[in-house]
Amino acid sequence: MDKKYFIIGNPVEHSLSPKIHNYWFNENKIKSVYEKKKLTEEDLENFVKEIKNKKFHGANVTVPFKQKIIPYLDGLSELSNKTQSVNTIYLKNDKVVGDNTDVYGFYQSILQKNLNLKNKNALILGAGGVVPSIIIALEKLLINKIYIKNRTLDKAIKLKEKFNDLIPIKWDEKADYDIVINATSLGLNIDDKINFNFDDLNKNICFYDTIYNPPMTNLLKEAKNSGHKIINGKSMLILQAQKSFEIWTGIKPNIDDKFLNILND
Ligand code: ATR
Repeated sequence: MDKKYFIIGNPVEHSLSPKIHNYWFNENKIKSVYEKKKLTEEDLENFVKEIKNKKFHGANVTVPFKQKIIPYLDGLSELSNKTQSVNTIYLKNDKVVGDNTDVYGFYQSILQKNLNLKNKNALILGAGGVVPSIIIALEKLLINKIYIKNRTLDKAIKLKEKFNDLIPIKWDEKADYDIVINATSLGLNIDDKINFNFDDLNKNICFYDTIYNPPMTNLLKEAKNSGHKIINGKSMLILQAQKSFEIWTGIKPNIDDKFLNILND
């Protein structure tokens, strides 16, 4: 029987993960299927049981369950433990384990775009679920300073308890940075406008939006018009998926032009 994998979250309708993983299963002649499953918090415990009893074989976890799933798992990888964020689940020695491939996804996306962040400064906008993964990736990239702004400043200050090097600043406070990472959900709706003052910048920098749909958020549009480099969340999405696939199958799938074209269809 085919093995079954899922993306679980709420909402999941717009997820590209089934397209990505089913393509790779097919390419690698692996008899498995990957589907979307919209769950409520009450469903999480049972879902994990289905992995334990081998009815299901693995899952990706998305908003809003990356942290909420943790109590139902038998173990966590070191990265999931540090970030308190799980986006990949698998069975190992009859134990359901939670792992985090978002750190890899963000880290590799920066390398792929040939950005060298060593001794550079970053500004993160937002303090939600994905931010610890971004911080760890930035640290691995040997970033110098990480400034962080959030609508609710207290949440940024709270993150500093775990990531001591963070520098929380107020929304209108100026700082010197080389990359801005939007990790808020502002931009998911095409009309969303994040309050960012481009006039404060005195050099060309890079704007990285973790959002991939729409591919051009208003933040990226404005950044591009002002002459800055832009990156959207698509490469992070693909690279975190590549790592999940490798965890489940032992095969590192190809990200070639054919794959990228299919994803754009
Ligand atoms: P969670 O915080 O529950 O993990 P998330 O989707 O991972 O949820 O994070 C949402 C992020 O987008 C937060 O940083 C949030 O800011 P607050 O902490 O102040 O809520 C930010 N965000 C969402 N809507 C926003 C808005 N309209 N303006 C500014 N920031 C917003």
